[in-house]
Amino acid sequence: MSIRALLNIEHPIIQAPMAGACTPALVAAVSNGGGLGSLGAAPMKPDVLRAQIQKIRALTGRPFNINLFAPGSERFDADAMPGKAARALLEKYHQELGLGELRMPSGIFGPAEQQLEVLLEEKVPVISFHFGVAAHHVNAIHAAGLKVICSATTIEEAVHLESLGCDAVIAQGSEAGGHRGTFMGDFQRALIGTMALVPQIVDAVSVPVIAAGGIMDARGIVACKALGASGVQMGTAFLGCHESGIPGVWREQLKASSPSRTTVTTVMSGKPARGLANRYIQDMEALEEAPMPYPLQYALSGAIRKKAAQQGNPDFLAMWSGQGVGMLQELPAAELLKALVTQTRLLLAELDN
Ligand SMILES: Cc1cc2nc3c(=O)[nH]c(=O)nc-3n(C[C@H](O)[C@H](O)[C@H](O)COP(=O)(O)O)c2cc1C
Repeated sequence: MSIRALLNIEHPIIQAPMAGACTPALVAAVSNGGGLGSLGAAPMKPDVLRAQIQKIRALTGRPFNINLFAPGSERFDADAMPGKAARALLEKYHQELGLGELRMPSGIFGPAEQQLEVLLEEKVPVISFHFGVAAHHVNAIHAAGLKVICSATTIEEAVHLESLGCDAVIAQGSEAGGHRGTFMGDFQRALIGTMALVPQIVDAVSVPVIAAGGIMDARGIVACKALGASGVQMGTAFLGCHESGIPGVWREQLKASSPSRTTVTTVMSGKPARGLANRYIQDMEALEEAPMPYPLQYALSGAIRKKAAQQGNPDFLAMWSGQGVGMLQELPAAELLKALVTQTRLLLAELDN
């Protein structure tokens, strides 16, 4: 089955869920244009999530996707403490930014089980996961008559997701911005480029495959089609849209960046993620201490990230971005989607000549 038929959409283009970067206006603009708009809801409290779903529904009658991080991934050890050097560095930043005392972290995501309950009650048409999904959650989503998709960064993960009953898998290549969806094995070995990952996942599973990572324009879409993908999921490309919810300083940094500015790091959240390198990442990576486990490391850097956003200071922000950053365009989302569809058709026709 094609991804269009599966998800009941006109164009096989999914605007990636991006926690902290999507707005209901962005989601609705993409869905209204015939693609699939997505909301990255991992950090949202259940009542906030319900209100966001209602906002999206007020703006579109078309299918949309809400994304969660795997239930359970938000759990943390309340007694864990940062290392001495990391603590000293963070205290220095707190002083520099005029923040109070460094507070020991608490959780910042989920609880994902409660978020999922909201999605089931609200009958969200498509539910997607990052960091894996459990069989009983897939079954619960299907029992509610809804679709479930999940990211895979290796062939093994894709095969596992298919065995759980996922309706489609997202093949997330290493070019991708944001967190690596890796949930099995070593993340370094799961840094597989879109070009190599997509066709091998296509060969290994029978469900539709959605390609993600480094796709910014019609050239990327056509390439992924040729690799056997049924659809594409694009994140970084939509960060430049007028409706994206990122702070102005992040947008400006994206506009000034080339792919060599991006790096995959674990020091921002405790899990590997690709974003623009900055002072925080450089300083933290130089420490001879492992970061705290996810999500504690993210919580630990929370106060400085928030302050940095208010001050327009890129030194301490988590500026997730894919390697396609140099192709970023600043357009309303509806225009970007329209251009992608038109240019993909033109390019396919050109290649046929
Ligand atoms: C700013 C940003 C935030 C992201 N947050 C999420 C998220 O919350 N959930 C998720 O499944 N994927 C997230 N991703 C990853 C995307 O789903 C997708 O894999 C990625 O954007 C594809 O690569 P591209 O950015 O090169 O298009 C995020 C990506 C970016 C750029």
